Parts: sequence; C-alpha cells; structure tokens
Amino acid sequence: MVQRPQPELPHALDVDGYLATLAGSTDNPVARARTLPGAVYSDPAHHERELDAVFRRDWVAIGLDHDVAEPERFLTGFAGTAPVLVTRDESNQLRAFLNVCRHRGAPVAEGCGAARALRCPYHSWVFRLDGSLARATGVGAPDDFDPDAYGLFEIPVTTFARSVFVNLQPDPPAFDPGPLAAVVAPYQLDTLEFGRRDRYEVAFNWKVLVENYSENYHTPSIHTQLPFAGYEYPTLCDGRLVVAWDRPLTPRDESEQALHDHTPLDPGWADVARRQAPESFNNGAYITCFPNMMISMFAGFAATFRLQPTSANTTIVERDYLWHPEIDAERRERDYAATCEVVQQDLDICVALQRTYDAGLSAHGVLSTEHEASIAHIHHLLARSLATTRR
Ligand code: FES
Ligand SMILES: [Fe+2]
Repeated sequence: MVQRPQPELPHALDVDGYLATLAGSTDNPVARARTLPGAVYSDPAHHERELDAVFRRDWVAIGLDHDVAEPERFLTGFAGTAPVLVTRDESNQLRAFLNVCRHRGAPVAEGCGAARALRCPYHSWVFRLDGSLARATGVGAPDDFDPDAYGLFEIPVTTFARSVFVNLQPDPPAFDPGPLAAVVAPYQLDTLEFGRRDRYEVAFNWKVLVENYSENYHTPSIHTQLPFAGYEYPTLCDGRLVVAWDRPLTPRDESEQALHDHTPLDPGWADVARRQAPESFNNGAYITCFPNMMISMFAGFAATFRLQPTSANTTIVERDYLWHPEIDAERRERDYAATCEVVQQDLDICVALQRTYDAGLSAHGVLSTEHEASIAHIHHLLARSLATTRR
C-alpha cells in the first residue's frame, strides 16, 4: 500500500504561533485559513487561556431578558467560571453583580425568580436588588465594619437580541454588535413571549458548537430533512457577529422575495419576516454573537443558544424558545419538534468531533472558501482575544 505523506503544517506544531499570526492579520482570507489544531478544543491549559482572554474580558451572554423583564426579578448564570447575578431593581434598573456574598463568598441566589431582597443561604446576610447590603445578620461588631461598603460587586450589563450580556471587567468598551445588528429589527423580538427552556450538558468544547452553528456547509449532509435544494445560505461577518440566512432560490411571497433580494444591510431587509413560512425551521436568519450566544429567528418564532464552558471538553448549552403570542399551540409544537431534530443532529456531530480532539488528533484541514469564511472569522476573533493576554 502506498503511504501518503502526512503534511505537517506549521500551525499544527505551533498553536500559539499560528494564533499569533492570525491575530496580527487584518484581511483574514478564508483561502489561507486552516482548521485549528485539536488541542485548541481539548487542552486544559489552552482552555484556561480562553477563559481568561474571552470569558473574563469580553461581553458574555448570561441569560434571557425575559427572566428580568420586571422589577424585583433576578437571574443567575456563569460568565465562564464566574458566578453572576442579574437583577432588575425596584426602580426598574437592570444591574449585574458577581454572585458572591460579601461575607465569605457563597452565591446569594440560585436559578431565577422574583424577590424583594436576596438572602444568602449560608449565614443569612441580606442584599437588596440594587446590590446594597441590607442586613449582616449576626455579624456582631467587626472593627471598622461599614455595611455600606459591603454591597455586592457590581459589573457592567447590557442586552441584545433578547439576551443579557455581562462583562467581568470594571470598565470595558461598550458592547458593540456592529452594523450586522440590523438583521434583528424585522423579527420584532421584543414582541415574542418566552415559551420553554432546554438544557443540555454536552461533551464538547464550546467552540465546536459555535463553529457548527456558523456554517451551513453541513446542512445538506446532516439535516437531510430540511428543504436545502430550494435554498442557498449567504453569510456575512462583521465584528462579533456572523449572520447567515435562508435565501430561497424561487421566492413564493414577499418575505421570500426580500430574503432573496436583500442583505441585512439593505433597507429591503425590513420585509424578510413579513410572512411565516409554511414549514417550521425555514426562511430563518441566524446570528452568531461571539463568544457564546446564537439566535435563530423566524417570523413569530426565535430560539437562542447560550453556551457555558465547564471544562476544555464539556459545555452547558441552554436553549430558549420564544413565540409571538398569536402563534398557536399546534404550530409551536411543530416548530419545537423541527428545531429539536436539528439541534440533536448538530449536538451529535459536535460530540463526534470532540472525540477526535480528545484523542489528541487534528484534521490539519482547510476551510471551504464557499461556505466557511464565518469559521475563519471566528478563529480571527478568538486569536485577537488571545493576543490581548499573550504573555
Ligand atoms: S457567606 Fe453569605 S452570609 Fe456567610
Ligand atoms: Fe446544523
């Protein structure tokens, strides 16, 4: 049997060198891009660098705005490994804090819900929703103890496309979704009501699903139930967003005509959600918001992904479903079933990829210049984040 020579690409041998070169490039052409070495998805030391460079420094999706839509509500989550609490206080102000009690550090809240104040479960110190310490139960008389100086540590918070984002840095640059954020407006996400939440504990690195979500190259192979023959899937990348959409080749109505004729940067894009597609999970627009939020938007229906890395090769995936109040139960059930089928297919292939990376193997591959510029873009964002913390 003829032994084919195994190419040893430089980046496969030198992860840091490849990422540094990528970070320094300004044009980032997909034709020159290579797939990242498996260690980027499996090495605990590299993962720790990502937690520091991305999840402790960038804006991170932490929850859904539905959970803090009214005063005296709160939600909790993790920005990377850091426990975070988001509240809407009595004065309707959205706030975020480290979910770290100022006594000995227990989380002061779990899950999400309604509360006028939060009582730490450990020794019952009580915090108001504006973060101030209301009662240091049983603390006695520590020297120089000023309760006003022992409020929760506040951190920046904002919202975009129904998700709540926080930043662990005290004074970060403002969250900027960039010009592609114009993709959102026609879907009127604020009119959608919360439907359900699914939680998956999965065995793959967080980036495996980000990359999967950001390309439609796999759609005809993996999602064979979808009507891919009648569509193509344009993709645009700018800043922290990747936007893809279903572009009908033979438009049937005004919505499909807008999807066919326009991009999110054109005024004509306003018509893309004018009609609900007869089929579920069709005529959608899909946003990847680096690093950890994705949202699929359809007329009257949207579903988000929110990723929480729990180790180099494990991730918690939360999926929130939102519908317009006028969408009936039967259609919701169809939307949910169709979406779950797609999600499970994606999760399965992601788990399979992770086995490669966990075995210490790399593809040493190239990216499709037709379909995977989005992945090159995401690798560029990652490399630039890592470069900011390079020692
Ligand atoms: S850790 Fe919160 S009251 Fe002790
Ligand atoms: Fe997919």
